[in-house]
Amino acid sequence: MSAEGAIKRLHLIYFSPSGSTEKIVRCVASGITGLPVETHDLLTPASRKKEYVFDKEDLVIFGCITAGKLFTLSDELFGCMKADGTPFIGLVSYGNGYYGIALTEMRKRAEGRGFQVAALGAFVARHSIDTSVAEGRPDAEDMEIMKEFGRRACEKILGGDRELHNVPGTNWSQWEMGNKVIAYREEHPDEPYAIPPSYKAKAISDACVKCGNCVRHCPVDAIDIEARTFDLDKCIGCWGCVNRCPKHAITSTSAEMSEIMKGFSEVASRTRLEPEIFL
Ligand SMILES: Cc1cc2nc3c(=O)[nH]c(=O)nc-3n(C[C@H](O)[C@H](O)[C@H](O)COP(=O)(O)O)c2cc1C
Ligand code: SF4
Ligand code: SF4
Repeated sequence: MSAEGAIKRLHLIYFSPSGSTEKIVRCVASGITGLPVETHDLLTPASRKKEYVFDKEDLVIFGCITAGKLFTLSDELFGCMKADGTPFIGLVSYGNGYYGIALTEMRKRAEGRGFQVAALGAFVARHSIDTSVAEGRPDAEDMEIMKEFGRRACEKILGGDRELHNVPGTNWSQWEMGNKVIAYREEHPDEPYAIPPSYKAKAISDACVKCGNCVRHCPVDAIDIEARTFDLDKCIGCWGCVNRCPKHAITSTSAEMSEIMKGFSEVASRTRLEPEIFL
């Protein structure tokens, strides 16, 4: 789809600790041609301290990781963006389990920042904790769908239609609400995005070569690589450091989490879930 007329710039914005969401955003954007592209990676604290201001000549594609809802830093992610009727294509990635209420939350938050939410999509990606779940996704089949989704969303927006006609519901389906992350949040109502401490407990082994990759990719500066320690008060449990380590030197130390993930992976590996798009 070639974008001309009222829209003059395409912005790709993402929060993607382990890299899958970035892939998804870029793939959806590949369905849109003819616009200069600006990319805003919101991984680092410094990037989220900036202000990103958009107007009606901008088109924004925004994507983020989810854990049954939006992820921990969502206040900052949406807080640094300000729009004035800017059309918005919102994307979430999830590990073949469920994205819960993430799209509904995303829509509300984006509208609260002045965007016009014209299209939403939920896409399966490799699970960042158990990477054997949805391994290799997004794959070629997903990518075809993403590109076509980008093309259709752009066509709709350029045609002057910026309403969201299909509204996402809650995607819990086969999952019991007793899931540990959900249960933990229910016990801590003041921390709506909390991730249980067992998901954060990690150690750095002797395989570490101090390349600094984990430090550069930690969204909250929680790693002291000299001391090989994590500040667990800061850590948001995103698993970016684990997946970005070229030496596989970072591993979970929590037997409890391994047990929880075993149950999750068993169900999540049963059925291949497909992309869901809302236009
Ligand atoms: C703490 C945590 C909780 C997660 N919870 C869920 C979940 O509830 N359901 C699911 O399908 N995937 C879940 N995931 C998987 C991620 O949503 C998925 O792997 C995502 O695509 C990773 O994005 P990224 O590669 O851009 O970081 C979770 C991942 C983490 C780190
Ligand atoms: S990415 Fe791995 S090898 Fe590099 S500093 Fe971090 S733990 Fe060490
Ligand atoms: S230390 Fe915590 S917040 Fe930082 S990258 Fe690792 S899991 Fe994510």
